[in-house]
Amino acid sequence: MSGAKNAVLPAMAAALLADGPVEIVGAPRLRDIATFGKLLGILGATVTQDAGGTDRSRLLRVASGEPGEAEAPYDLVKTMRASVLVLGPLLARYGRARISLPGGCAIGPRPIDQHLKGLELLGARTTLSEGYIEAAADRLRGAPVYFDLKTVTGTENLMMAAALAEGTTVLKNAAREPEVCDLARLLRAMGADIEGEGTDEITVRGVRSLRGARHEVMADRIEAATLLLAGAITGGDVTALGADGGAMDAVLEKLQESGAEVEVANGFVRVRRAGPIRSVNMKTAPYPGFPTDVQAQFMAYMCLGDGFSIVSETIFENRFMHVAELRRMGGRIDVSGNTAAVKGVQGLSGAPLMATDLRASASLVLAGLAASGTTEVLRIYHLDRGYESLENKLSSLGADIARVRE
Ligand code: EPZ
Repeated sequence: MSGAKNAVLPAMAAALLADGPVEIVGAPRLRDIATFGKLLGILGATVTQDAGGTDRSRLLRVASGEPGEAEAPYDLVKTMRASVLVLGPLLARYGRARISLPGGCAIGPRPIDQHLKGLELLGARTTLSEGYIEAAADRLRGAPVYFDLKTVTGTENLMMAAALAEGTTVLKNAAREPEVCDLARLLRAMGADIEGEGTDEITVRGVRSLRGARHEVMADRIEAATLLLAGAITGGDVTALGADGGAMDAVLEKLQESGAEVEVANGFVRVRRAGPIRSVNMKTAPYPGFPTDVQAQFMAYMCLGDGFSIVSETIFENRFMHVAELRRMGGRIDVSGNTAAVKGVQGLSGAPLMATDLRASASLVLAGLAASGTTEVLRIYHLDRGYESLENKLSSLGADIARVRE
């Protein structure tokens, strides 16, 4: 497995808090990581990533600099909502930040009201002008923050801001994702005083300064789920080396329910499908629930189920873009609101398809692997945002797949 994109991005942002460099071991080479590195460069940091080596040994190094009047520009932020992760660190370390408000994206408006509410509770003053958020604070002060909803990067932003605030911050209704825990592990290595990560309540006692650290980033549980589903949908036998089964319970339980055999051991997860695919219902939820980032891939799998499957997307407003494309392959899917009814069919047929967002494009690849004939997935730059050479990983598993043009 590659290192987890959604753990690497906050780790890169955390480097803005430190007097010394943060070295991230095992970060994959992805578009989103390159984009985030460009953003940090604009904000005065120096970012270097090893070109060679295997993706688990590769080093990504971020050393903060002086951002001065720098801002996170619209043309960068609009391509990657995770840019909002610089807000907390800039405020905590330099006392000011100016970041373009992330526009909507394919999967929904995705506001940052919870991030701003939390930072204001820590004493930041925020204004919105010409589409940019301006935030300032002499020194952040610890405070209790209750999130109205579970937000992964909101929790991460506030953890980072609170790490250098004066006094204690308690984050309630905090996100419990493994990536949040991975960030807490890094911040602690940098000298932060944090406890409770992985639960609904995280306590952060501010310190005066943070030092650089070396961080072995966690494996990508979403990539692992995607590759294991490639095995399940094709009736194959896939072992995800380096995957942490303990971070994938909801996905593995659904795979077992659907008739696949799952084996979890220290250092790998294995999925085999011998019999038919049993249609099962699935509802996405904040961790430890079924991850929204695996919803599209799971829906592709259910297209070949033996009955009806109800798939509910409770996190994002519009994360069914893959449905129209799966229908073109013969998938029988009816959508009403945030619920899709999938009637399993005997087989899917290959077709030219259009990728729309990162995880939807992965679901089209999975469907193509199981379909008869050839499937061509266009606009695979979406895929490259979150998967490092997915086609090579799938080829090594026996898939007949090739990147035909950029
Ligand atoms: C993180 O996005 C991930 N990205 C997403 O992965 C993932 O889908 C998402 O969490 C949910 O698990 C990163 O970690 C970089 P949220 P994030 O804040 O933090 C609403 C991928 O494919 N909300 O947990 O941006 C929001 O609109 C990406 O790798 C507010 O209303 O998601 C959404 O509906 C896609 N106000 C829901 O909460 C806020 O202030 C969950 O959003 C914040 C969020």
